[in-house]
Amino acid sequence: MIVLGIETSCDETGVALYDSDAGLRAHTLFSQVGIHAEYGGVVPEIAARDHVRKLLPLINQCLADAGLGRSDIDGVAYTAGPGLIGALLVGTATGRSIALALDRPAVAVHHMEGHLLAPMLEEDPPECPFVALLVSGGHTMLVEVRAIGTYRILGETLDDAAGEAFDKTAKLLGLGYPGGPALASLAEEGDADRFRFPRPMTDRPGLDFSFSGLKTHTRNLWLNGDQQDSTRADISAGFQQAVVDTLSIKCRRAMQHTRAQQLVVAGGVGANLALRQGLRRTGKKYGWKVSYPRLEFCTDNGAMIAFAGCQRLLAGQTAGPSLQAFARWPLDQLPPMEELNA
Ligand code: KG4
Ligand code: ZN
Repeated sequence: MIVLGIETSCDETGVALYDSDAGLRAHTLFSQVGIHAEYGGVVPEIAARDHVRKLLPLINQCLADAGLGRSDIDGVAYTAGPGLIGALLVGTATGRSIALALDRPAVAVHHMEGHLLAPMLEEDPPECPFVALLVSGGHTMLVEVRAIGTYRILGETLDDAAGEAFDKTAKLLGLGYPGGPALASLAEEGDADRFRFPRPMTDRPGLDFSFSGLKTHTRNLWLNGDQQDSTRADISAGFQQAVVDTLSIKCRRAMQHTRAQQLVVAGGVGANLALRQGLRRTGKKYGWKVSYPRLEFCTDNGAMIAFAGCQRLLAGQTAGPSLQAFARWPLDQLPPMEELNA
């Protein structure tokens, strides 16, 4: 089955064609980063309008790259939430219209399920059961995955998501938008031990996260310091190390709690090399396998949506009659995929 995947939940227009027999056939992406940079963050209305402009040309390009025609598409998967509602509606309306015109099934995909399943696009994919650490700009959660489609949320952030904390801290340090990758590369030059940073919520039981205190701590350090370039790099390194340690400690607890042997890390912050290295080291120490998507599939993309949608279509699931997008959509309320996992 060949599935066209469409991702428009935020500031990336992603398109892909996933073939259940041959794997990923092609994927195309347009990042709106340059468009939003002058505003210092994503402007929802501008995001939606640009998805309208880019989506159809990207679909045509993806088909051409794969050497496929429209009639080869067996199903259409689109991100229906969570995300920016206007942006989501572009992918939802376009995806449903294409499915209708081709007389093919369509399926609504949960953006975080897309992230969670992205490592399965790689060779040597993770096997269920596993624990997933999902770290993106909008979400930070630990999820127990007993089977594809069956998700139990073990812990979540009580305030900022990890990516959001990276972005806000980077903005404070004058690193522009989007700040996560910029802060990460500056951190490589810094001394992580020059300043002391807290490891929030690690001194109490439970698997929830909170990053707002760490952000405030960083602000106080920066505003009360000398604001030299070397200080900026040292604060970046210390902040990043605190996030990595905090996530590692919680992952270790989640693995012990569930007795899982496999950890999956996904979402934009999963592209952070210090985090990948830190978790690989922790995994080695405790004997669990750690899987990541390739770097370009950590951040938003169409391939993860095509893959997740393909699994749901194979399990016989299709979108209901009404056309809906959801700004909020709890991951643990998705229908299970018994057929697929049987
Ligand atoms: O998954 P994603 O592309 O979009 C959402 O679903 O939110 O994640 C974007 C987030 C942003 O906050 C971005 O700053 C962060 O991921 N990010 C990083 C890195 N690359 C992306 N954070 C830290 N280090 C990175 N290398
Ligand atoms: Zn995302």
